[in-house]
Amino acid sequence: MEKKIIRKNSNLIDLINSILDSDDEHFNQKIAFLKNYIQSDLQNESNNGYSEYNNHLEHLRNIIDKIESSKTYERKRYYLRSARKSISEVKTNGVNDINLNRWQDYNEIITDSLWIFPKRERGGGHLGWYWGNFIPQIPRQIMLRYSRQGDWVLDPFAGSGTTLIEAMRLKRNAVGIEINNEVVKRSIDYIAKNINTLEFHSEIINGNSLNMDYKSIMERLGIKEFDLAIVHPPYHDIIKFSDNEEDLSNVPTTGEFLFKMERLSSILFSILKKNGYAALVIGDKYERGELFPLGFKTMEAFLKSGFRLKSIVVKNFDFTRSKKGQDNLWRYRALVGGYYVFKHEYIMVFEK
Ligand SMILES: C[S@@+](CC[C@H](N)C(=O)[O-])C[C@H]1O[C@@H](n2cnc3c(N)ncnc32)[C@H](O)[C@@H]1O
Repeated sequence: MEKKIIRKNSNLIDLINSILDSDDEHFNQKIAFLKNYIQSDLQNESNNGYSEYNNHLEHLRNIIDKIESSKTYERKRYYLRSARKSISEVKTNGVNDINLNRWQDYNEIITDSLWIFPKRERGGGHLGWYWGNFIPQIPRQIMLRYSRQGDWVLDPFAGSGTTLIEAMRLKRNAVGIEINNEVVKRSIDYIAKNINTLEFHSEIINGNSLNMDYKSIMERLGIKEFDLAIVHPPYHDIIKFSDNEEDLSNVPTTGEFLFKMERLSSILFSILKKNGYAALVIGDKYERGELFPLGFKTMEAFLKSGFRLKSIVVKNFDFTRSKKGQDNLWRYRALVGGYYVFKHEYIMVFEK
């Protein structure tokens, strides 16, 4: 935090201390003063850009509501003491930047294993032009939970660069690898036009993520390891991404696809930091009238490489886009064939 904000933060703490020191008679009066102070500082434009300080103010404002509705002074003081702690001390789990002293404030962060996103987030640099991309909420949730500001995130199947755009918004450095040069060019162009910060590194490399010289990439970037990998491969041949035979959507058999995913997961294991995370985003497929659990089979490939499984999230499928409004046809086919239409995919979280 800049000096000015550090000073403002300590003013806030002084103010809280003085309220805590005051007797019950003056307590409510001083709380009202603090409330006004917070309200006007929240509207103070010179604080724009200091999101941490503004978060503190909003946090305090919420706590003041609780204080005002508390019946006893003991309770009121208890809330105020915990508010002081939450803005003066940061407690994290070492993996992300979530301040555990203020854990109630992180409404955006999902902790349940069922993710239902009614729609794609638009704006913030995302256009959603790429067929087979994932919604920005996925890399956002993963990065918020499994990385910190300034960390290095690798996306070995970068596609349109959703991870990279989101990484920039969250102040993470990101490296993407994408086999399709046309897609790379378009993504680079798009990212350059929409994201304008040079503070964090963002790069998409054209190539096969199974054959990259990661060592020299990391040497060039001046890093020893990556902190997080976000892995969104083709779901084998469900969508054909290109004619390139090294493209995993063109691998002839599912067995071979899994073999390659196992190779990739060992590579990721070797370049991630100890206790670093990898998140695999994948769905299942039908093959010759039978369900092939591609998600679980790929998960096994990661486990074989040494990763520990931390979570399996089920996420609703971006149905309208992926099935192009052919819902009735799919429903009919499902009724004829005796199966269920996929409406979900997985996010499997691993720790090294
Ligand atoms: C499911 S898409 C990823 C989409 C991405 N998450 C996004 O939001 O745009 C998979 C991508 O992997 C790329 N790909 C396939 N095989 C690859 C390989 N061996 N190395 C690197 N990229 C590959 C495809 O061209 C495709 O863009």
